[in-house]
Amino acid sequence: MKSKNTFYVTTPIYYPNDVPHIGHAYTTLAADILARWHKLLEKEVFFLTGTDEHGKKIETVAKKSGKTAKEFVDSLVPEFKKAWKKLNIDYDSFIRTTDKDHEKVVQKILSIVNKKGDIYKGFYEGYYCTECEAYYTEKDLVELCCPVHKTRIEKLKEESYFFRLSKYQNKLLEFYKKNQDFISPEYRRQEIINRVKEDLQDLSISRTSFTWGIPLPFDKKHVCYVWFDALTNYYSATREKGKEKFWPADVHLIGKDILWFHSVIWPAILFSAGIEQPKKVFAHGWWTFNKEKISKSRGKIINVEELITIAGVDSARYFLFRETPFGEDGDFSENALKDRHNNELANKLGNLVLRVSTLIDKYGLEKTTIRNLDSKKLFERVQKGFENLEFDKVLNEIFAFVDLCNEFIQDKKPWETRDKRVLYELANAIKNFSILLNPFMPETCEKISKTFNFDFTLKELKKEFKIGKIKKAEVLFRKV
Ligand code: ME8
Ligand code: MG
Repeated sequence: MKSKNTFYVTTPIYYPNDVPHIGHAYTTLAADILARWHKLLEKEVFFLTGTDEHGKKIETVAKKSGKTAKEFVDSLVPEFKKAWKKLNIDYDSFIRTTDKDHEKVVQKILSIVNKKGDIYKGFYEGYYCTECEAYYTEKDLVELCCPVHKTRIEKLKEESYFFRLSKYQNKLLEFYKKNQDFISPEYRRQEIINRVKEDLQDLSISRTSFTWGIPLPFDKKHVCYVWFDALTNYYSATREKGKEKFWPADVHLIGKDILWFHSVIWPAILFSAGIEQPKKVFAHGWWTFNKEKISKSRGKIINVEELITIAGVDSARYFLFRETPFGEDGDFSENALKDRHNNELANKLGNLVLRVSTLIDKYGLEKTTIRNLDSKKLFERVQKGFENLEFDKVLNEIFAFVDLCNEFIQDKKPWETRDKRVLYELANAIKNFSILLNPFMPETCEKISKTFNFDFTLKELKKEFKIGKIKKAEVLFRKV
């Protein structure tokens, strides 16, 4: 049995066919926020991200650039790592599907599934979108084009091995029924259940017309379908010594574009291989720009560099999770980000911290047990929000509390009364909401903690504010 004191969160492993953009940043930031939250709860956390490096799509872009596939992915992986560093994303492990250890696990699982009788040789004749790395039937297509990319689609005719996905139809339906929150949000869960009920075809899991992939252990002429390879990363990353205890994953965070793979194909592979199922798959919505999906292949791209430049790292982190409920689509606007930066971060949070620290620097503190600003309730609400992955609600709660602090100082006027107990209450409140805000805005909260002398632990959250030397804080947010 898995011990309750671990928390394992994953992001999709991204195709390194270009530099990362705001969409990739979004899922990876969500994982970072959750990981930091669970660390605060004193869990042993494993946060995995990485890159999905095999397949026709990567092989094709590599060819265009005049590099081998391996040289090509090697040149892009550092771009992902750099971007995550810039965004202050503190992952524990970065998996690449070209890692030898991963490849071995994929082959092992293929062997197990094959021995079980769940793989057979056949002939695939049908459509394939290399951009999606996905199979389509004729009725999925829109004027013979990919329904997602609107580009011409390949017609494949080749020998292929198939995975008996259809065999798992009932087992999957039972599993969804027993584990009501395996797929979130609820409306997406219903969609998946309906599709699985309607039809579940066996899945082609090998190709012979290109070579950039993992060879099937029982037939080296074939390379493994990139999705079979990629999904296995979540498990293979935990086969390392000391990491076994993290399986099954607590949550796979993904975008809604790849929910079918994670909620149908992945559990079926795990059933076949006899491996325990992950606890949850959460599919968030898409960021659009002028209502077009932000993507590498279509529409406008906002890369990580551009995102950070608008108003800084923490403002970007804050904006993405405050603006839209996690799960729903959001339309990105630079002005909306700037407005939130100026009005909510600079005016409300930044000014509060500056004001209170300035007054304490002048008049000092005096301990009191009066609590006009009750952060116990705040903690409970924040905890509830995190449990449901309602990041927007968590931020709403925290910033409603910041508003209360601002009203309190306005009302008590400590700059006139020089009431050191009022300042004590404010310092205590700032400590508490900053500990809760830290997963979202680690750089800002670090600065606040240096001014107010506290650290980011549960113990500190429950403790009374300890009086120490407090100097006027530096400005946290410059208006843009
Ligand atoms: O699908 N809005 O990789 P990928 C929000 N390699 N999130 C977005 C987004 C947008 N506009 N665009 C991308 C793959 N994302 C596979 C995954 S996992 C075993 C293999 C995010 O590079 C979102 O998380 O196309 C989406 O699911 C993912 O990037 C797709 O990244
Ligand atoms: Mg994609």
